[in-house]
Amino acid sequence: MASDEPKAKRAKISEKEEPEAPTETTPAELSPNSLFGMGNPLLDISAVVDKDFLDKYSLKPNDQILAEDKHKALFEELVKKFKVEYHAGGATQNSIKIAQWMIQEPHKVGTFFGCIGTDKFGEILKQKAEETHVDAHYYEQNEEPTGTCAACITGDNRSLVANLAAANCYKKKEHLDLEENWKLVEKAKVYYIAGFFLTVSLESILKVAKHASENNKLFCLNLSAPFICQHFMKNLMQVMPYVDVLFGNETEAVTFGKEKGFEMEDVEEIAKKTQTLPKHNEKRHRVVVFTQGKGGTVMAKEGGKVETFPVLEIDQKDIVDTNGAGDAFVGGFLSELVQEKSLDRCVKAGHYAANVIIRRAGCTFPEKPDFN
Ligand code: AP5
Repeated sequence: MASDEPKAKRAKISEKEEPEAPTETTPAELSPNSLFGMGNPLLDISAVVDKDFLDKYSLKPNDQILAEDKHKALFEELVKKFKVEYHAGGATQNSIKIAQWMIQEPHKVGTFFGCIGTDKFGEILKQKAEETHVDAHYYEQNEEPTGTCAACITGDNRSLVANLAAANCYKKKEHLDLEENWKLVEKAKVYYIAGFFLTVSLESILKVAKHASENNKLFCLNLSAPFICQHFMKNLMQVMPYVDVLFGNETEAVTFGKEKGFEMEDVEEIAKKTQTLPKHNEKRHRVVVFTQGKGGTVMAKEGGKVETFPVLEIDQKDIVDTNGAGDAFVGGFLSELVQEKSLDRCVKAGHYAANVIIRRAGCTFPEKPDFN
């Protein structure tokens, strides 16, 4: 749908609309709440574990799943048996934090919505959001505790088990729809939601996505994990027509292609095909961005154009852990997108942020970025 907003004020993305964008060095003026994120706020509990532990809870060494009844004791055992580290996590929250870190000033360019419990872990998440200058507005309830994510590390692999708990209690009516909260949504020009949130509140995602589409702003989504494509495809495809920028890694790309019956395994081909899926706001063409670890990042644009961008080189022994690498890539990308920079520059910023994060434990970062 067309927007009455003056063109200069709209978020831009297609090559056609890019000439008016600021130069590489002059950022568009940024105001608080320009970048909106909504998702599952989780406290990550990570530890190096052994194979017996994985086997006991039927975990694959490299996977992302939601906790089931059989995982109930896992969290307690993890803390008792191994040396654990706590990090503020949750995919969308990570990316918004990274974007804010890349932007630095003004503070609170990034807004974040999600649900937490009124407990110690919830307090930690609130404190972390404040420290990272993200404008977090949590829906707080006391029926469920703040969600956690066990990161069970063995060698280069990590098995993530998310116990959503409070995160699963996000309610559109009780939070997103509130006038003061919706005003924050309206202030944004770029929206980002990880696919993980498709398991929680499809109606909240659709409300934000429709707002973005109707006002010619940018709506970005992440495939997040193979299980989203395998078990939540119906929800995913309800949102897809609103998606301006789709993110994912190569495993998610291949799973998505398989579940959609594309009958192809090549990531570039899947990106091209996904780019052409039906879209509501036809004025703006979808962009698909698939990262591939140390392999190049694939970006598919209108007209079957596809390009692969090499990642920044790193001595593999300098990698502390790749936990949060994908989220950091997205955060870096969004930090430039919200400043209306070119897509190439967005990818460059994504690679920079990911490269910083993989040199550190968890999705953490130094005081200031050094990105030019
Ligand atoms: P995790 O899955 O560990 O983080 P991620 O951001 O998805 O990172 P991955 O390591 O999976 O990266 P990727 O495969 O997406 O990207 P790629 O390898 O292509 O989990 C993080 C968070 O998820 C946790 O905080 C947790 O709370 C949250 N979470 C779990 N379940 C959840 C749920 N249900 N709801 C909400 N949140 C949930 O790499 C990306 C980029 O990194 C590359 O393009 C490259 O630039 C760089 N890079 C990566 N590896 C290399 C390498 N070997 N060499 C050079 N560069 C590299």
